[in-house]
Amino acid sequence: MSDDGGAAIEDYYLEERLFPPPEGFVDDAVVADRSIIERAQHDFEGFWADQARALDWFDDWHTVLEWDLPFARWFVGGTLNVSHNCLDRHVAAGLGERVAIHWEGEPGDTRTITYAELLADVERFANVLKGLGVRRGDRVAIYMPMIPELPVAMLACTRIGAPHSVVFGGFSPDALRDRIDDAQAKVLVTADGGWRRGAVVALKENADTAVAEAASIEHVVVARRTGDAGGTTPMTDGRDHWWDELMSKAPESCPPEHMDAEDLLYLLYTSGTTAKPKGIMHSTGGYLTQVAFTHRAVFDLHPERDVYWCAADIGWVTGHSYIVYGPLANGATSVMYEGTPDFPDKDRWWDIIERYGVTILYCAPTAIRTFMKWGTEFPERHDMSSLRVLGSVGEPINPEAWVWYWTHIGGGHCPVVDTWWQTETGAIMISPLPGITTCKPGSATFPLPGIAAEVVDDSGKSIDRGGGYLTLTRPWPAMLRGLYGDPERYKETYWSRFDGRYFAGDGAKIDDDGYFWLLGRVDDVMNISGHRISTAEVESSLVNHPSVAEAAVVGAKDDTTGQAIIAFVTLKAGQNETAERGEELRGHVARHIGSIARPRTVIFTDELPKTRSGKIMRRLLRDVAEGRDLGDTTTLADPRVVDEIRRLSTAQPTED
Ligand code: WT7
Repeated sequence: MSDDGGAAIEDYYLEERLFPPPEGFVDDAVVADRSIIERAQHDFEGFWADQARALDWFDDWHTVLEWDLPFARWFVGGTLNVSHNCLDRHVAAGLGERVAIHWEGEPGDTRTITYAELLADVERFANVLKGLGVRRGDRVAIYMPMIPELPVAMLACTRIGAPHSVVFGGFSPDALRDRIDDAQAKVLVTADGGWRRGAVVALKENADTAVAEAASIEHVVVARRTGDAGGTTPMTDGRDHWWDELMSKAPESCPPEHMDAEDLLYLLYTSGTTAKPKGIMHSTGGYLTQVAFTHRAVFDLHPERDVYWCAADIGWVTGHSYIVYGPLANGATSVMYEGTPDFPDKDRWWDIIERYGVTILYCAPTAIRTFMKWGTEFPERHDMSSLRVLGSVGEPINPEAWVWYWTHIGGGHCPVVDTWWQTETGAIMISPLPGITTCKPGSATFPLPGIAAEVVDDSGKSIDRGGGYLTLTRPWPAMLRGLYGDPERYKETYWSRFDGRYFAGDGAKIDDDGYFWLLGRVDDVMNISGHRISTAEVESSLVNHPSVAEAAVVGAKDDTTGQAIIAFVTLKAGQNETAERGEELRGHVARHIGSIARPRTVIFTDELPKTRSGKIMRRLLRDVAEGRDLGDTTTLADPRVVDEIRRLSTAQPTED
């Protein structure tokens, strides 16, 4: 990138360019004292118990950790309430007037919500849910745009001990129905619509389609967002209720339930290597302990003066942990933005940072690479001197984007924290600590205090240096407690590949200085703009289409989104391989799963390359898709397929 002052990216590798903590950071940093790192190494249970004590507990725990591999129980016997920790205790401490959320809608409307106001809304909505028959332990599905009612609904669930299942607003009715069904949710909370690039996304319409086939739903609560702009919203009598109407009738006060530390806090569905999404289960006490600690430590949070912005959607785990639970548990002031970075123009993000005086920015490499493409002129015309810390999450950040972020957004004085974690880990696991860690662009550096990560070879032997598979060797407080309704699949997916280790699905290497470098997924999971989509999920959607005989899907390298979905499709006899058919199939997948799963390219082929045992050779297809050399193809049943696929894939231009 010429923007970087001409230095070729290889230079950063070759010189092993180091980024020590910027001047002035060390004294004031939240984790300035290295002794906590040593304490965590020697006594990780004691370390986590210290972090848990930063929360308010109704009853103390009697045992920090019970570990019956692979099932962990943290802070056993302790009771607490998440909404009490995120709201009541701050208000009780005199912080009721502190801004919890600076909310900004895509059309430019804004709301400023204090901790006292948020608490009042949460108590009322908790009573709304109770009034609809939701009891402790019942599941509530939430399908909403990025509006304040979304965190209100989540926190209200936690207040009454009803686990929530937030479904990303970009998902299709089918995806919503499957998730509601799996969780047997009783109530669905949604909105009439959401704004995206100036257009209305018809959420209620999608919700109606989903609920028509989801028998467990008894009531639907609808927040008003887009109003008449989305046309009239049909409401089903007795089943559907307007948010504001229920709120105006609900009692004001709702005491928080005393929840067991191990009670289910929420479900979040994520893609695995099969077509069926997995319901990741997160607990109450351990989860809140680790998200609160990591949010303070990794972002060097000083709640009394920072303005923090995590530019993710709450529909993903990043938003659960680092828009809602971590920041609110810490009494932080956050920015929450409804829309996309390019609406109404490419200044929007930098304008938000300038107007609110954002000090901590957390986003994904795909966003950073998009901004690089747009050019430095946009950030340059804004005063972003308020920024202190920059974070990255979702996929490996290439050194070039890291350095651009550091230089052009951080002005050369903000530490960049590359944070590795997963829906399953619940909280950040590998990351630099501002004020402590000397960074290398592109490396997530080291496991955080209290976390034990190791890279192992094929045989499961731990290696000090070099490449292999990333594993976690000890339980951690925010770890998933299992897959909803499927303990066997939990063991099989995460704990069976390497004895006694949690296998994360990622490849990683450790360099000569002991730094961790994440190398991407080694399983059949793709990463599109930091979002996980399984190849099997897209394949099963494709073969659902009446014209398709067989399909194989791979993630190919993409400069902006990290990976792009490439679908190799064999049509049934008599079907025509036309551009229109390709379009139709791309649209079919988008409708079926959601637009993030729309294949970038559909390549028609008469046959798919298979091993003699009939397994589709994804590696080869990926190589074809990325235009690389094909390598050894002798295990192919029919080697001619390769040439055929190669010919076709170069003949058909990539669509965007
Ligand atoms: C997968 C987890 C964690 C919130 C967003 C994604 C990849 C995540 C990094 C990073 C390299 C990363 C991994 C991981 N990933 N962060 N800093 N460097 N890779 O959550 O959907 O559960 O995906 O995202 O491949 O396994 P997720």
